[in-house]
Amino acid sequence: MREIEAVAADVLPGEIWEFISGGSGEERTLAANRSSFDRIFLTPRVLRDVSECSAAAELLGRPVSLPLALAPVAYQRLIHPEGELVAARVAADAGVPFVVGTLSSVPVEQVVAVGGQVWFQLYWLRDRVRTFDLVRRAEEAGCTALMLTADVPWMGRRLRDIRNGFRLPASIRAVHLAEGADAETTAHRSGLGSAVAAHTAQEFSPSITWSSLEELRSATSLPLVVKGILAPEDARRAVTAGADAIVVSNHGGRQLDGALPSLDALPAVVEAVSGHCEVLLDSGVRSGTDILKALALGANGVLIGRPFLWGLAAGGEDGARLVLELLGGEFADALGLAGCRTPREAAALAATAYPHAAPGYLD
Ligand code: FNR
Repeated sequence: MREIEAVAADVLPGEIWEFISGGSGEERTLAANRSSFDRIFLTPRVLRDVSECSAAAELLGRPVSLPLALAPVAYQRLIHPEGELVAARVAADAGVPFVVGTLSSVPVEQVVAVGGQVWFQLYWLRDRVRTFDLVRRAEEAGCTALMLTADVPWMGRRLRDIRNGFRLPASIRAVHLAEGADAETTAHRSGLGSAVAAHTAQEFSPSITWSSLEELRSATSLPLVVKGILAPEDARRAVTAGADAIVVSNHGGRQLDGALPSLDALPAVVEAVSGHCEVLLDSGVRSGTDILKALALGANGVLIGRPFLWGLAAGGEDGARLVLELLGGEFADALGLAGCRTPREAAALAATAYPHAAPGYLD
C-alpha cells in the first residue's frame, strides 16, 4: 500500500495531493491514527483448522465479501474523469458497499445505476427542504442505507488547503448542491483560503443536533448510520435515536486536531452500545491486519478513505481494484494466520496495546 501511496503522491498535482492526504491543524490526529494501529499486537490462536476460511460477513444485514466499505470521499472527479462511477464499479465487483457523498461530483442516480450496494452520505444543510430532498433523492435512486456525518458542523482547518488557496477546477462541482456556489466565487475572487471550506461553511448547518437525527430517523425507513462518533455517550445516544450502525471516526484526522484516534476510542464505544447497533471504524486503516485489529477490538467492519484514492490516482480503475484486492487478500491471510475461520471469530482475539509503536522492519 505504501508503494501505491508513493505513486499517487508522484502523479497527482501538488494541491490535489495535499487536499486528499492532509489533515487539520498540526495533523496530530492524522499521525496518531496510524501509530494507534501500529501499537496494537494480536495473539493468534493455533490448531483450529483454518482450511475453510472465509472473509465474508454482513453489514447492515446484507452480505459483503469482506467487512469493509468505501468511505464517502468528496469530489472524486478530481482524481479520475469518471469520478464516483469508478468507485461504484470497483466496489460492486468486489462485493462491498460504496458510500456516495453529498459532495459527490457525479449524481447519485448515475452512481446507483452502476449496481452494487450504494449508501448515501448526508451532510445536514442549512436549507432543511434541500436536506430532505436529498434524502428522498437517495431513496428513490435506490441507495440501501443513509449515513449522516455528525462531525462536520464546518470543515476543520486544513492548513495545507488554506495555504494553497485550494479550489475546485471549474469543470468539477458538488452536483447535489446548488449551482453557482457564491462562496466559491467569493473565495476565488479574494484569492484567500480554501474555497471548499468557504463553500461548505455556507451550505452545512452548524446547528445540527440529536433532534435532527431523530427527525431523519422518522423521515426514512432506510438503515441509518451515524458517522463521526468517538464518545461512548454519543454512541448510546445514537442508538436511542434509532441508528442501525455508527462509524467510530475522526474523519481521517481532518476535523478536530487532537481528537482521539478512532482505534483508541473503539473499545469503550463497543461496550457502550453492547450489540444494540453495528459498530464500524475508519481513520487509518491501511492493511488487512489493520482490519483484523479493528475486529479484535470489537468493530463489525471498517471503512477506507485515502487508500482507495491512492489506487485510483496511481493506476486508474485498475489501481483502485488492486487496492481492494490487496486488502481482501491481506485480510484473508491475517484471519487464517490468527486462527479465525470467519470475521466473527476475530472478535475473540486478544489485542494488546504497547505504549510505543515498534518501528516496522521496512520503516
Ligand atoms: C473525506 N471524508 C469525508 N467524509 C464524509 O463524511 N463526507 C465527505 O464528503 C468526505 N470527504 C472526504 C474527502 C477526502 C479527500 C478525504 C481524505 C476524506 C472522510 C472519509 O469518509 C473517512 O472518514 C476518512 O477518509 C477515513 O480515514 P482514512 O481511511 O482516509 O485514513
